[in-house]
Amino acid sequence: MIYFIKDQISELIKYFLTLKHFSHMQTSQSLNIKPFSCIVAYCRQNMGIGKDGNLPWPMLRADLKNFAKITSSTESLTENSFDIAQKSILFNSVLTQHLVAKNAETQAKSQKINAVVMGRKTWESIPQSKRPLQNRLNVVLTSKPDEFRKQLEEAGTPQENVMVCSSFETAMVDLSADAGVGEIFVIGGSSLYEKSINGEYKDYCKLIIATRINKLFECDTFIPEVENVSKDSVFAPLHVSETYSQGDITFDYCFFGNCNILSTRPELVPNKLMNKYEKHPEMQYLEAIDDIIKTGKYKDDRTGTGIYSKFGKQMRYDLSKSFPVLTTKNVFWRGVAEELLWFAKGDTNAKKLSDKKIKIWDGNASR
Ligand SMILES: NC(=O)c1ccc[n+]([C@@H]2O[C@H](COP(=O)([O-])OP(=O)(O)OC[C@H]3O[C@@H](n4cnc5c(N)ncnc54)[C@H](OP(=O)(O)O)[C@@H]3O)[C@@H](O)[C@H]2O)c1
Repeated sequence: MIYFIKDQISELIKYFLTLKHFSHMQTSQSLNIKPFSCIVAYCRQNMGIGKDGNLPWPMLRADLKNFAKITSSTESLTENSFDIAQKSILFNSVLTQHLVAKNAETQAKSQKINAVVMGRKTWESIPQSKRPLQNRLNVVLTSKPDEFRKQLEEAGTPQENVMVCSSFETAMVDLSADAGVGEIFVIGGSSLYEKSINGEYKDYCKLIIATRINKLFECDTFIPEVENVSKDSVFAPLHVSETYSQGDITFDYCFFGNCNILSTRPELVPNKLMNKYEKHPEMQYLEAIDDIIKTGKYKDDRTGTGIYSKFGKQMRYDLSKSFPVLTTKNVFWRGVAEELLWFAKGDTNAKKLSDKKIKIWDGNASR
């Protein structure tokens, strides 16, 4: 399989823009909402997330596991150690009192529980046997909270880990004030993502953890565009994982950071979490260019254009897994493949390539 699927990570070049963004943006936070994250899986071709109340694609086991792991882990996302000062006030929190008993095991490990905030339809999209999501505080938004609670009772759904709210703002402010709550994750659906990524709460959303699915699926529910980074974009990619696959579906994990927040609070960059995902091999190339631009040595060349260079840089690609074709610029793949075979045969006759309409060695090879 080719690692560098064209169009798949072409925004990686915009990775370089990230630091530039970070240097000059400002936030306007006036509510007591702590920085939260969105976690989402979307179809890259249409930004779709749902279809007929469900996911548009067949179950991606690795992705569901990843979702459960990230949202339930009470390990810090960053490299900072656990805030010991918070521990003393932890058990006085009103919201967590009822959770402490139920989540004794989780609490014993970490003393905190993460919250997953979702719209009523997203709740309904979770199979009945799997809800509420274990080891997490499930916060469900609905305009009819009493009706919803009644439905929970009638269905015999355990309610210890469920908090029902009629307003996004109230939910986020209450969760932020609760020292027993660790990370807050917005897990959908579309209006919650819209508020967090584009709308009135975008100054509080520090991170979008995205599973990007490379196959086209028909969808009826969408998230805002985050891939096309421009100079006005709030979010920019921080890390792109290698590509995974299940059957004919390929996907990767991309971490988009909020430039406004992370420029002033770099301690919130989730290095610890991102380091768990093997980087996409193309990042080696992009990071090398970044390094050369920033710290390379300038010298003149015969064309008069000038060169920035660095001695001894290496990149390593595991050819047993994939073939490292760049996606951040157009690559003439047929030409590359034919040229490689030509090299491998020890051929030096450029005419053989030229006959196949590959003109790259015309006038340069020996015969
Ligand atoms: N791919 C992914 O990562 C992902 C993630 C989540 C969901 N999904 C998919 O997306 C679809 C569900 O999302 P959806 O956008 O249709 O619906 P949704 O956002 O999950 O739920 C919408 C409902 O939530 C309530 N709500 C939303 N915002 C509210 C607010 N500010 N205050 C009070 N109540 C509020 C309202 O409930 P009431 O009508 O009860 O008032 C509203 O009708 C499903 O297909 C699901 O599978 C995909």
